[in-house]
Amino acid sequence: MSSSGRADEKEWEGSHGEELEQIEIELLLEGVHRFYGYDFRNYALPSLRRRIWHHAHAEGVQTISALLEKVLHDRACFERLIYNLSIPITEMFRDPQLFLTFRQKVVPMLRTYPYIRIWHAGCSTGEEVYSMAILLHEEGLYEKSRIYATDMNARSLQQAKEGVFDIKRMKQYTKNYLEAGGTRSFSEYYTAKYNSVIFQPFLKKNMVFAEHNLATDGSFNEFNVIFCRNVMIYFNDELRDHVHGLFHESLSHFGILVLGSKESIHFTSYSDSYETLDRAEKIYRKIK
Ligand SMILES: C[S@@+](CC[C@H](N)C(=O)[O-])C[C@H]1O[C@@H](n2cnc3c(N)ncnc32)[C@H](O)[C@@H]1O
Repeated sequence: MSSSGRADEKEWEGSHGEELEQIEIELLLEGVHRFYGYDFRNYALPSLRRRIWHHAHAEGVQTISALLEKVLHDRACFERLIYNLSIPITEMFRDPQLFLTFRQKVVPMLRTYPYIRIWHAGCSTGEEVYSMAILLHEEGLYEKSRIYATDMNARSLQQAKEGVFDIKRMKQYTKNYLEAGGTRSFSEYYTAKYNSVIFQPFLKKNMVFAEHNLATDGSFNEFNVIFCRNVMIYFNDELRDHVHGLFHESLSHFGILVLGSKESIHFTSYSDSYETLDRAEKIYRKIK
């Protein structure tokens, strides 16, 4: 073949390669949705694409079509895919300034309520939920609170229920706790065992853990506060709007919505339904 023939072939492969990849990704997501009921079709494409390829290589397959076949015929491979697509990265008192602002601006409002219901949507392995339980305990509010911790990833949720974390992370978590306004010795809240720590059982007393998928499941209660941080950054605009609809429906009047540091209620269909309580920390209050 002449060199111009090879160049033509490369160009053809390049443009058709992208088109083919797009088709294969759509077929994978369609297959996963139809067979397992998990809907990733409205996740933002660039990061989804990267994670699908990462998973394909980890499974030892060369194409996304081959991955689809493996995922459909091997449930364990599907479960590993869910784990890889879910990015279960989190930490205790993540963005400590947010927890400090929450203590200063939201806790005084919560004191006036007879009963407090908080939903952590996309709670991952639970670090955010234990942080909230500690904060409410220190503010004397935990007894009248119930914390609902949900995630689509059953494996992460199981870790959250156990409340066992890597001891190596405690140095960072102690620093976060103090920056978040904690006044005690952080080690009061856990017992070390080998390379892990287990958090005090009383912290779990008012926690409820449940599988819930923001893309496909509906509202299940009315809440005074909803935390959903670093979850919707992986969604496209359509899915993000859908989830904001779910949160709006699930919040009581004057309910508080807390988003992640890179997120905002602005530029969603619900921006007029909230007032900003703290712009920097992404804390909003439902007003209509
Ligand atoms: C990066 S972690 C964020 C954890 C925690 N909120 C934080 O900010 O540290 C994202 C979590 O969102 C969950 N997630 C992603 N898509 C979801 C969906 N459709 N429904 C429920 N949870 C979802 C993932 O399983 C993962 O545990």
